[in-house]
Amino acid sequence: MADIRILERSNGAATAINPLRAGLDSNRITDPCNIVFFGASGDLTKRMLMPAMYNLRLGDILPTNFGIVGFSRSEKSHYDFREEMKTAIDEFSRTGPTKDPLWGDFANRLTYVAGSFDDVDAFKELRAQLEENDEKLGTQGNRLYYLSTPPTVFAKIVQQLAAAGLGPKDQTTGWSRIIVEKPFGTDIDSAQALQIEVTKVFDEKQVYRIDHYLGKEPVQDIMALRFANVMFEPIWNRRYVDNIQITAAETVGVEGRGGYYENAGALKDMIQNHVINLLALVAMEPPISPAADHIRDEKFKVLSAMRPIKLDDVPKFTARGQYGPGLIEAKPVPGYRDEPSVDPQSTTDTYACVKFFIDNWRWADVPFYLRSGKRLARKHSEIAVTFRSLPHRIFGEAGDQIESNTLVMKIQPDEGVSIRFNAKVPGPKMHIRGVTMDFNYGTGFGVVSAPAYERLIGDAMRGDATLFTRWDAVEQAWLAVVPIMARWSEARIIDFPNYLAGSQGPQSADALLVADGREWRRI
Ligand code: BG6
Repeated sequence: MADIRILERSNGAATAINPLRAGLDSNRITDPCNIVFFGASGDLTKRMLMPAMYNLRLGDILPTNFGIVGFSRSEKSHYDFREEMKTAIDEFSRTGPTKDPLWGDFANRLTYVAGSFDDVDAFKELRAQLEENDEKLGTQGNRLYYLSTPPTVFAKIVQQLAAAGLGPKDQTTGWSRIIVEKPFGTDIDSAQALQIEVTKVFDEKQVYRIDHYLGKEPVQDIMALRFANVMFEPIWNRRYVDNIQITAAETVGVEGRGGYYENAGALKDMIQNHVINLLALVAMEPPISPAADHIRDEKFKVLSAMRPIKLDDVPKFTARGQYGPGLIEAKPVPGYRDEPSVDPQSTTDTYACVKFFIDNWRWADVPFYLRSGKRLARKHSEIAVTFRSLPHRIFGEAGDQIESNTLVMKIQPDEGVSIRFNAKVPGPKMHIRGVTMDFNYGTGFGVVSAPAYERLIGDAMRGDATLFTRWDAVEQAWLAVVPIMARWSEARIIDFPNYLAGSQGPQSADALLVADGREWRRI
């Protein structure tokens, strides 16, 4: 695989090497622009965003005329900022340490503005920096603002941009767009309030709400699998599908983010956004075109068909958990309540599962089981579509079990698709066993998928909003979890911690499926 990649880069001859990639044009150069990272001293900028920018440049996806401005509270010079970003890229970039001359050119385009988000003068300074970049770097007045700060200051930054004349309405040339990191609000009310503030300055079309799951290749492939093939769509409905399980399991704990996580929990941190977005892609109707709004119209429609869970039904439709100490990859790890910045009596959920129904013709009565948790047995995200059992069995010896067919879209760490079906065991008897047919993106196409942030930042620079969440979908996703949040906040928890780090999750989650005569797939 490594050889294939080297040849691709050095002489563009990939077509001769891997027939699956023949004739593909994968470089989509973005518009010239400046990108401003608010929260430039934060972890996300260092681990994800700046390495993504560097690799976009390395992959010739950034044009030659671009500028990057870091904005955050801590005082530092342009030089210090460049050094800090170099260290971050050296450590976290997927392509290894920075290399000259590319790094030298990249570094010259990095500048820094220090200031608090209340500081009007800092925003004036930002404006001067952007105007200077337009002149010196040829960025043509195009601006992409990236909010990777704590969500509490999102609205403030938007107001300050407008006050400093940096909003799209103030522009005579070029475009302005804003990328908003998750969470977009911390509940339905705060999300609606934030939306009001954002749309005072930016039109909906200029707002790019990021959900990094949508930038993952296998997540994008859900649509290709469904809508670039004829064989799945006819059976993609309640007549053939028994249930759908969507899992986003992690082995990590809260990774020093206890302060944030205490007010979030698995339901708000993962289910409300990443996991519900997966549900939308798997359950939506075929869009009439790949245009961003055609896809987003279908996502909105399916999310609005999610059956609201009645308050009294919350205990029957959900389960939650919190990890205690345990073993991850044979190493002892502390329980959630012992993590830094976590209340020793915390009742925050680090595991959540929910059963949803979608009330439309396609999905009526098909349960969608969603789960996500930290410190589980394996890092593992997938969507498993399990089909109904045979209407009438004619094959198999007495002891043979005939499994239900399952189609699994594997999101991470394996990326691919597998289909489980029944086959005859070779031999004189008609024994039947379940077998698996597997497709793996890495070996199939001979490439390593680019991290989600690279794809998403590139798309925002090009003005392609397909993989970003429109407000109406965010609002629906909040509405889906409102009753759960309400019921969970009033019910007293006595059994936390209720699962061991490194396990499959709490027993109450198993019980939820057992009550339906089903079981969770193993993590
Ligand atoms: C983030 C959550 O959105 O997604 C984190 O805030 C979580 O808590 C992360 O760990 C998971 O992302 P990934 O790409 O590692 O599955």
